[in-house]
Amino acid sequence: MSANGYAVRAEGLTKRFGAFVAVDGIDLAIARGDIFGFLGPNGAGKSTTIRMLCGLMVPTSGRAEVLGLDAARDAEALRGRIGYMSQRSSLYNDLTVAEILHFYGRIYGLGQAERQQKVAAWIERADLAGREGQLVGTLSGGSRQRLALGCAILHRPELLLLDEPTSGTDPVQRREFWELIYRFADEGTTVLVTTHYMDEAEHCTTLAFIHTGRIIAQGTPDAIKGQAGLPTLEDVFVSLIANNTQAHA
Ligand SMILES: Nc1ncnc2c1ncn2[C@@H]1O[C@H](COP(=O)(O)OP(=O)(O)OP(=O)(O)O)[C@@H](O)[C@H]1O
Ligand SMILES: [Mg+2]
Repeated sequence: MSANGYAVRAEGLTKRFGAFVAVDGIDLAIARGDIFGFLGPNGAGKSTTIRMLCGLMVPTSGRAEVLGLDAARDAEALRGRIGYMSQRSSLYNDLTVAEILHFYGRIYGLGQAERQQKVAAWIERADLAGREGQLVGTLSGGSRQRLALGCAILHRPELLLLDEPTSGTDPVQRREFWELIYRFADEGTTVLVTTHYMDEAEHCTTLAFIHTGRIIAQGTPDAIKGQAGLPTLEDVFVSLIANNTQAHA
């Protein structure tokens, strides 16, 4: 399937926790090179879906093909080809910026020369120059998130999964973070990102609105607004959630 240009294909992807259905039969087709955004209220099932796509969580039913591999069965092979930045990703606070990047470089099996080069390049690109020796625990929110992104991309993954990577950072930091995302997309990396910020959603090539574990709208930002006949994504978001909640009441 991915030979046809899809980074992700999912069919009937479902995750139950006991009797509770967190992800309820999601179908997905994410084209290579896309910046694909997951939107939806707290508890909608976005993070759970991403964990299944990363191979970190086995679906209760359905399947996900990621970069041509079965995410659950071939999780080990997938690991070296994807980069995952988890929601509220925790970094080791008592390491320095350079130490933590080298640490992740070693996890990905990069040789010393390549590691040196990649770490130096990221420190430059992520505007962390001069902070190499600073303890991670003392970084500001924006620097911390750019560092976490560096830890997820050192091995040049084909697919980046970013779960609320900019939450809690200011507008300038968010814009800088998105400049980094655009550059990866320009270089051919597929990006799947979740956000609660509708200005960020506008930057995505394709969006999927998720509510109660289901995709309730999907398309380009303009198509989604056009279909709903509403001027902003925030209006669409509020209207979709209200209608879908009524439908389930
Ligand atoms: N391991 C788990 N055990 C039981 N319930 C879980 C587990 N993980 C997630 N859930 C539940 O599944 C639902 C979906 O959670 P998920 O974290 O995927 O939502 P989300 O869309 O990422 O929300 P947010 O925007 O708050 O991050 C929630 O009701 C959550 O409490
Ligand atoms: Mg989440």
